[in-house]
Amino acid sequence: MDGMLAQKKILLIIGGGIAAYKSLDLIRRLRERGCSVTPVLTKAATEFVTPLSVSALAGAKVYTYLFDLTDEAEMGHIQLSRSADLIVVAPATADLMAKMAQGRADDLASTLLLATDTPVLVAPSMNVRMWDHPATQRNLAVLRGDGVGVVGPNEGDMACGEYGPGRMAEPLEIVTAVEAQFRAGPLAGRHVLVTSGPTHEPIDPVRYIANRSSGAQGTALAEALLALGARVSFVTGPALVPPPMGAEVIRVETALQMQQAVEAALPADAAVFAAAVADWRVENSSVEKIKKDAKGAAPALRFAENPDILAAVAQRAEGRPRLVVGFAAETETVVAHATAKRLRKGCDWIVANDVSPATGIMGGAENAVTVIDADGAETWPRMSKADVARKLADRIAKALA
Ligand code: CTP
Repeated sequence: MDGMLAQKKILLIIGGGIAAYKSLDLIRRLRERGCSVTPVLTKAATEFVTPLSVSALAGAKVYTYLFDLTDEAEMGHIQLSRSADLIVVAPATADLMAKMAQGRADDLASTLLLATDTPVLVAPSMNVRMWDHPATQRNLAVLRGDGVGVVGPNEGDMACGEYGPGRMAEPLEIVTAVEAQFRAGPLAGRHVLVTSGPTHEPIDPVRYIANRSSGAQGTALAEALLALGARVSFVTGPALVPPPMGAEVIRVETALQMQQAVEAALPADAAVFAAAVADWRVENSSVEKIKKDAKGAAPALRFAENPDILAAVAQRAEGRPRLVVGFAAETETVVAHATAKRLRKGCDWIVANDVSPATGIMGGAENAVTVIDADGAETWPRMSKADVARKLADRIAKALA
């Protein structure tokens, strides 16, 4: 069996959530790709799936309790966690994430997680309110800061009858995230944040202000960074193109949400701001749908300026990524405007492009860019957005080397 997962040893910790059934499929998908899977069930997990079915699918012994390991002739917990190439926690319940964030070790799963320096990937799964709770979001930020990889959760109908983010990522999405952990390349071990797509600024519950960004350039860039081995946090507005496989995707709608998501995804080695963020939001947006005025008067929208996400990150006193890259969408005197923008925003590079309708760039497949840094302007020939992305990713890898 070839592929990057062949011969890899995965320690799979299954937490006690309804999504544990999907972990049975995950075991199959990982083994199909040549991994060996050593399963560990928390006590709560045994209420959702049986050790027998897990063991049968994994073709391996299942570990459940700390005293499973008291027989040192078998395998101690230190050895069990360190002999793995990667630890996957799926489903990662709110409780398990809280334990991990605090460094508690009161059962086998949490002890293994504390006793190891093996990379860890978590697939959160919980009720939407639990996911949105500040405590969980705080724990998530701590785990990210500790270098833990996160895949999902997805948005959708939940077993509890509610709707929202909290559903565990699908087994194949988890496999993609596992593969990403084994990527090698000049950006291996680096964390790059990418913003992408437009933002939607609501006028009322059914109407919004948007722009023509498709998310194509940001997505291509994230893919190129992933191909060089980077861990990528991808903060995206409602884009037309699907998000990159293997990135940690954080979906937002408004500029304010994008700013929050960017702050939560830091620290990063580099941050690239490819999103077309709306400069303004509707300050007097309506909770109810705005009805037509009987006298035919148009509604008076009042605008408030959105925070400049790029400038805020570029001008951070502490925790500034080593490399901050902005994009500049211009329609005239591109280089002069972009050069001024670089200084105004405080970023290291500006990737400037001409978005005049005649160029067909915004929403199109090609791009013609000029990269501006402290040394001057470098104009690249017109090429596909994928090629621009590859060239830019190479340049980023060199800057971080
Ligand atoms: N940007 C941002 N947050 C904003 C506005 C822009 O992070 N609220 C980022 C974009 O992602 C891009 C860069 O800033 O990387 C430049 O955005 P652009 O819209 O071209 O520049 P503006 O600052 O809006 O300047 P102007 O509209 O005057 O051209």
